Amino acid sequence: MITVSEKTERFLISTAHSSYVMGVTKERFLTHLYYGKKIRDVGAEHLFSYVMGRGFAEATYEKHPDQGNYLNTLRQEYPVSGMGDFHETCLELRQNQAKVALDLRYDHYEIRQDKAPLEGMPSAFGDEVETLIITLKDSVVPVTVELYYSVFEDSDVICRHARILNETGKALYLEKALSANLYAEHVDGGYDMISLAGCWGREHIIERRKVGHGNMTTESYRGKSDHDGCPFFALTASGMPRQSGKTYGMQLVYSGDYLGKVERDCGDQIRGSLGIHPQEFTWKLEVGDSFETPEALLVYSEEGLQGMSLSFHDFLRQHIIRSPWQFKERPILINNWEATYFNFNEEKLLDIAKDAKAAGLDMLVCDDGWFGHHRDDPSGSLGDWFVDPKKFPEGFAGYADKVHAMGLKVGLWFEPEMICELSDLYEAHPDWALCWPGREPVRCRNQWILDYSNPEVIENIYQQIATMVKTAKLDYIKWDMNRSIIDGHSAYLPEDRQGEIHHRHVLGVYALQGRLTEEFPDLLIENCSSGGGRFDAGMLYYSPQIWASDNMDPVERAEITAGTTLAFPISTLGAHMCKGVNDTTGRKLDLRSRSNMAMLGTFGVEMDITTLNPEEMEILGEQIKRYRKIQPLIESGEFRTLTRTAENGIYSAFQITNQEKTEGYLIYFIPMTKAATSPARLYLQGLKEEATYQVDKGDETLTLGGDFLMHAGLCLGMPRMDAYSEIWHFQEI
Ligand code: GLA
Repeated sequence: MITVSEKTERFLISTAHSSYVMGVTKERFLTHLYYGKKIRDVGAEHLFSYVMGRGFAEATYEKHPDQGNYLNTLRQEYPVSGMGDFHETCLELRQNQAKVALDLRYDHYEIRQDKAPLEGMPSAFGDEVETLIITLKDSVVPVTVELYYSVFEDSDVICRHARILNETGKALYLEKALSANLYAEHVDGGYDMISLAGCWGREHIIERRKVGHGNMTTESYRGKSDHDGCPFFALTASGMPRQSGKTYGMQLVYSGDYLGKVERDCGDQIRGSLGIHPQEFTWKLEVGDSFETPEALLVYSEEGLQGMSLSFHDFLRQHIIRSPWQFKERPILINNWEATYFNFNEEKLLDIAKDAKAAGLDMLVCDDGWFGHHRDDPSGSLGDWFVDPKKFPEGFAGYADKVHAMGLKVGLWFEPEMICELSDLYEAHPDWALCWPGREPVRCRNQWILDYSNPEVIENIYQQIATMVKTAKLDYIKWDMNRSIIDGHSAYLPEDRQGEIHHRHVLGVYALQGRLTEEFPDLLIENCSSGGGRFDAGMLYYSPQIWASDNMDPVERAEITAGTTLAFPISTLGAHMCKGVNDTTGRKLDLRSRSNMAMLGTFGVEMDITTLNPEEMEILGEQIKRYRKIQPLIESGEFRTLTRTAENGIYSAFQITNQEKTEGYLIYFIPMTKAATSPARLYLQGLKEEATYQVDKGDETLTLGGDFLMHAGLCLGMPRMDAYSEIWHFQEI
């Protein structure tokens, strides 16, 4: 996987289908030479001529009459600022008030036959992994940077992160410490940057932008990864269909502020960078201390965005998600949020439980409103994780016993990073809310952010949650986070560490979720942040599923699903069937359509099931049985978005195929019927060309070749209704 040529000082990293090559220049700079389709280790030194600078420019670094604009054109593996690189750099330092310019040169390397976990942060794990560690040093400012490259050959993923050590004899302040960058190989026609955009209710919609000169970003500095993006972007050759073309994907195993930036310079080099967003970040590095950046995952695929997504899906399932639930059938749940909002009590939930059991569901999740003294609306009680006796006269454990006795699992909602002014916790600890000195904390839904830099806070919240998990024998918790971090000041941290709040908050979340998963290994955690506001690989390390959006209307869910699965496996998307009239959009929707779309993910129901008539209950029961057949493929199959309404104007279609390519499901969705259109054509992907498949369309069964299905395609009729969907099964015969 890792080959080093001592003579030419070249490093070649190979995965099953890609190669990554670096070299050391004669001035001892570590430079990037190639990342692309797999190549043999022959002649890479030829590429030095490409990276050695070009033309006249003002920033010649050393005495290189033949190498104008040297560091600005050199493809540095870990670019630093202050020496003539005018692009996005990875590292910026300050000592007291003064900027510290760094000049990092190659020092030595080491290869390990394993991969060490990152301290206090989620990171990839696995047995078949090799790690290259390259050490760079500055001869004037004693700072060492170690670059880590862990190679997961089969998944075509390279994990990168950096460790920065302060050996200067004085405290240093990191103003910026990105995780990694990459350079895209030249392609005629250039590249598009693909990132995810949106807002609450329309999370993670695919955005494609032509990479022109200058730069473009995807970013968050709200203290979480957020609705209008996530720490992921791709570069894909312009104008190619989703299953072909040179494609690079990069995502961060991190759940806080992030910056993803793509730049094309005057020489048409394209650099992509990813890491913690510098805007709200300063980190004090004491003498002898080190700082580890979060881990970035890099993928290269010749098979376009589709190939990149398949690599990420496989990798996240095998090497990031630790939960024992990852490869077990997840419980099909019913959640009372949109059924009751805050207006419920034990009696109401037990009625829901009775019908849930009859329909064939596995678990009842009690959402927001069960705790404290003031939770009949969002005005108070966050932080008071004890049961409201008005709603549960026999305590939550008494209620949970009854639900368990009915043969259902029990789930419960928490929002552990928050505190309300109107709460016992705030009364006891007013200094536990983040807040600018002399001001009141900024109000968002009446909730303030707990100071997770303070270990006492973490301990208190852990004890409260653990007590509930133990006493009620909880099977599942939904961990919510319904606001951004705005007040960046902590009463606990000293002045010179106030810039650490956002990162320390994320570390606190990891510490708490890590402790819960260790103490209660079978506890299923579903992360959430006002819908899909914190969907990232960092959270997946602790929870195998994340609530993808509060918007369950299939018309919009189809786009949310296509966007989210660009980077994350379908098994991680919390997906529920909504009410007949959707609460977010007001659209009236057929039960089959609502439930078909909820099968794309971890199926659940989020409506008052007691209002269904016997016929609807029967349809729901059938849909649950159907999902149980699809579920194993959701959890371990290959998932592909075949097309999107946003691209073709008519329909979205998704395909799930087992790893053997012998069986699968096709789910298509037509948001709005159209008059007099030609039948839409659907081309399947990733089947066996020579095999014959039987396609069960419900009303008819077709026998078609794999080659036919992939190249000639299936015809879809135009329904006489809006928001229409079908699920077809196919199997090799
Ligand atoms: C967020 C979540 C919802 C629900 C509410 C409760 O908005 O996304 O699913 O849990 O909070 O307040």
